[in-house]
Amino acid sequence: MRHSTALVTGTTSGLGYAAASMLAAQGCRQVVVTGRSLARVQETAAQLAAETKTQVFTPLELDLDSPTSVHSALAELVKRGQPVDFLLLNAGMVPGKRRVLTAAGIEASQAPLIGHHQLTVGLLGAGLLSPNARIVIAGAEPARGGVPLFSYTDVPAFAAKHHQGDRTAAVEALLRNGPNVKYVPNRAYADAKLIIAWWTAALARRLPSGMAVYAVSPGAATGTRVVRNAGPALKYLFIPIVNRIPGMNQTPETAARRYLQASEFGTDVSGQFFASAQGKLTGPIEAQRHPHLHDRANQEAAWQAVVNVSGVDFSSAAPLSAVSEGATDRG
Ligand SMILES: NC(=O)c1ccc[n+]([C@@H]2O[C@H](COP(=O)([O-])OP(=O)(O)OC[C@H]3O[C@@H](n4cnc5c(N)ncnc54)[C@H](OP(=O)(O)O)[C@@H]3O)[C@@H](O)[C@H]2O)c1
Repeated sequence: MRHSTALVTGTTSGLGYAAASMLAAQGCRQVVVTGRSLARVQETAAQLAAETKTQVFTPLELDLDSPTSVHSALAELVKRGQPVDFLLLNAGMVPGKRRVLTAAGIEASQAPLIGHHQLTVGLLGAGLLSPNARIVIAGAEPARGGVPLFSYTDVPAFAAKHHQGDRTAAVEALLRNGPNVKYVPNRAYADAKLIIAWWTAALARRLPSGMAVYAVSPGAATGTRVVRNAGPALKYLFIPIVNRIPGMNQTPETAARRYLQASEFGTDVSGQFFASAQGKLTGPIEAQRHPHLHDRANQEAAWQAVVNVSGVDFSSAAPLSAVSEGATDRG
């Protein structure tokens, strides 16, 4: 990380904040820190600077729910012209009891991926990722299954039942939480992280040869604000129980360190999803081997669904104009 430039999303609390702090400690020359509002992220940058005694933090307004905000952030990054070596797509949330859709009609826990896709494709199109850039996006163990209270949707079965087998349409329905999708908050979160794992694999096939992308679960770190919207069963039952089991929770710093560890991985494992060992939510990360994660049809369906919903693809060669024409906010 020495002398490199990093961009971290969702730095106003939790793991994004911890990762930004550690990147500065590791010698990053510049760390672009993002938050939904400029005032809030300016405060974050000032706090990080005071805490780390470095002046490497640059605040950037970025609300991933809003294509207009992502477009403005991209325009600002183009103006600054500094290529990014490490793109850490950390922002995310566990949704609450009440279903929330963004103005663009995307379920709230799915929305960060749509904004992250727009940002990543925009940076690539603008030549603002360095030739050996590493991209890490936050995943979570529910994407591989076996996490109590969190089960993901069987996309092939859902596609067969409601979309004549069209998995792209099925993933699009999950991103929008309808039609034919019953809103179950924990399932929406598991699906969001599963779609992220598939999107990562599909992006890896599209990146220039020196670059790499990984989905990385930071693992359980219940000291962050991640479950602030979650229901009482998760907040007051599951998490307190998990916290009592040795080895089932870790500090935000330990969790965020997984992102930094992955930033050192090679192109040979690009596209893979790294998470705790089966049955665990902490400890060393390993590449996940579950067949549903490696199903190419699922991966490509997820990519196409994200392209359809965001209106952004590599074929929209000039991403900044494509963003402004094709994906403005809808009320
Ligand atoms: N902590 C865990 O146990 C755990 C486990 C597995 C995976 N993860 C993943 O790790 C990532 C970080 O979570 P955390 O634990 O650090 O939670 P956190 O303390 O709630 O921090 C999440 C950050 O993401 C930002 N964010 C969320 N949605 C956004 C959006 N649509 N646009 C812009 N910013 C957005 C939040 O900003 P606002 O405050 O403005 O919303 C906040 O800065 C998430 O992707 C989460 O799913 C966490």
